[in-house]
Amino acid sequence: MNMQIKHTADATTVEEGLAIQEEQAKLDSAFATDVAMQNTLLTPRFYTTDFDELDAIDVSSVRQDWDELIDDMVSDPNKGHFKKNEDWDHVDWDAMEPALKKEFIDFLISSCTAEFSGCVLYKEMKRRGANKDITQLFQLMARDEARHAGFINDALREAGVAVNLGFLTQKKKYTYFRPKFIYYATYLSEKIGYARYITIFRHLQAHPEHRFHPIFKWFEEWCNDEFRHGEAFALLMKTDPKLTQGGNVLWIKFFLTAVYATMFVRDHQRPAFHKALGVDPDWYAHEVFTKTSELSKQIFPITLDIEHPRWLPTLRRLQKANVAIAEAKQQSGLSARLRQIANSAKAAYAFASLYTIPAKKHAVPASTRLEPAY
Ligand SMILES: [Fe+2]
Ligand SMILES: [Fe+2]
Repeated sequence: MNMQIKHTADATTVEEGLAIQEEQAKLDSAFATDVAMQNTLLTPRFYTTDFDELDAIDVSSVRQDWDELIDDMVSDPNKGHFKKNEDWDHVDWDAMEPALKKEFIDFLISSCTAEFSGCVLYKEMKRRGANKDITQLFQLMARDEARHAGFINDALREAGVAVNLGFLTQKKKYTYFRPKFIYYATYLSEKIGYARYITIFRHLQAHPEHRFHPIFKWFEEWCNDEFRHGEAFALLMKTDPKLTQGGNVLWIKFFLTAVYATMFVRDHQRPAFHKALGVDPDWYAHEVFTKTSELSKQIFPITLDIEHPRWLPTLRRLQKANVAIAEAKQQSGLSARLRQIANSAKAAYAFASLYTIPAKKHAVPASTRLEPAY
């Protein structure tokens, strides 16, 4: 019996959480790690940035909101939450329909990689920085993401697969983003993460017969962590008004379009998963975009016009082009290569078309702080 081994859910620092996972890594499978190692436009990446520039941020202009948020995170409302308990129903992986099993494992690996990507970036910022406000925030966020990734890995282990997080840290390719791109991309991924988790949670509250795995029961507290992380990035951006004005608005539009389009394409690759949840992927995407847009008005002066007549048909074209690219990549020969090139051009054209849909402008409130309301 191994009663002494602590669980990642109880870890109070990121170092402790990672040490526990290092212990468990002896069991981890090569298959899941290989999937997590992939770097395509659609798979979660690892990021690095100019940590000195981040460390130089002065939060005094948002001090009151900042201290409240940090106090909330220090109080650690989710300590001990991310572990299996009596609410964790038995999962019969062998009886799961093969298509669903494949897509669901893919979903878990992709989510685990995304959580861990946040963990690695935040931990590195904490390690490199000297600014007490910044290092404290990043330590707290890294703590949360280590727990999230550890919990998904618990679920994967029951299916006989798990991601070797230590291996990923050392071997996965890191993409450099300058700090302002980290703010836009990470802010959006935290807020869209919140919107995704809460939308599934509320849907399954109303339709528990579709809850085919217990992990969805944990999504409510989970999304509150992501909500707080998003709040932190909103405050970081608030310290420098230039970040959300002038030419930077074009970058904001680019990241909004990229994040929404990636979600749409990725989710439509998992039809069996969404069918099991009883969720229409078009409805789900629209719901998540609506919530994310509403939230991002706290700091971004524009939102995408997702009701525009060109929006949905163009997303569909982008999605079809991506399916065709993936199919062509599986084949060899000149004609497959040409199909890959033609569909890459179609995908690029569709993305440009999405980007040129006029955005909706609005005034940004004086105070950014929001509470989770969905
Ligand atoms: Fe997370
Ligand atoms: Fe997060």
